[in-house]
Amino acid sequence: MPQATTEWPQAAIAECVSAVVRSRRSVRAFRPPPLRRQLVEEILDDAASAPSGANIQPWRVYVVSGAAKDELADALVAASRAGRAPPPAHFPEPLPDVYRARMIDFGTRYYASLGIARDDATARARQTERNFSFFGAPVGLIFTIDRRLKPHSWIDLGLFAQCVMIAAKARGVDTCPQVSFAPFHDVLAARLHMPPEEMTAFGMSMGYGDPEARVNRTRMPRALVADFAQFQGFPA
Ligand SMILES: Cc1cc2nc3c(=O)[nH]c(=O)nc-3n(C[C@H](O)[C@H](O)[C@H](O)COP(=O)(O)O)c2cc1C
Repeated sequence: MPQATTEWPQAAIAECVSAVVRSRRSVRAFRPPPLRRQLVEEILDDAASAPSGANIQPWRVYVVSGAAKDELADALVAASRAGRAPPPAHFPEPLPDVYRARMIDFGTRYYASLGIARDDATARARQTERNFSFFGAPVGLIFTIDRRLKPHSWIDLGLFAQCVMIAAKARGVDTCPQVSFAPFHDVLAARLHMPPEEMTAFGMSMGYGDPEARVNRTRMPRALVADFAQFQGFPA
């Protein structure tokens, strides 16, 4: 990112960053062109600028493409069909009402964009399974963290992941972050030769999104700043 200069006035930088941040979406249908390894390395190199508590940089990423990605996807689909993973427990039960309402709204918009009826459990399961083939993206990433660290360090990993997505989007590359991989740590650890101290936090699909796919055209709404921020001490 350039510094503000006469060539790059601050307003132009802000407009550019804002446009990239706002245009990032979770993309779940991709076009075939592969991504060069050098491009993915550039994205990860940018993302390595993410902050972390005491600069410990606890992120680790496994990047797969081509046959390595396909073999991993096949193993995950097989494990999923065999019921090998514990049921996902990404959210507490009961989920507080404010979050449950947003989750239901997400599901309604998501499945409508795919033409999947609310009560069609088979079609929903098939779509969930598409997570494991990285929604057809040419590159898949698996993010891990050292299990000896405390939850605080997961903040670092999340910040890193957002930097990956923004650095990708700035280059016209789309992504989808996916917690769906987490229950399949045993499959991932064996295939990716992870050391025992690592645990899978989430995965990510990466590639050039298909702008024609309806699933990519759905926009997930956001609460207003006034709904989540409180300001104090500012002049009226
Ligand atoms: C930590 C995390 C985990 C997610 N896991 C999944 C997932 O497993 N599968 C999926 O399709 N989307 C997943 N998403 C994408 C969210 O559904 C998406 O970010 C949200 O609906 C907002 O939409 P947007 O990213 O298009 O703005 C995940 C997002 C985050 C941040």
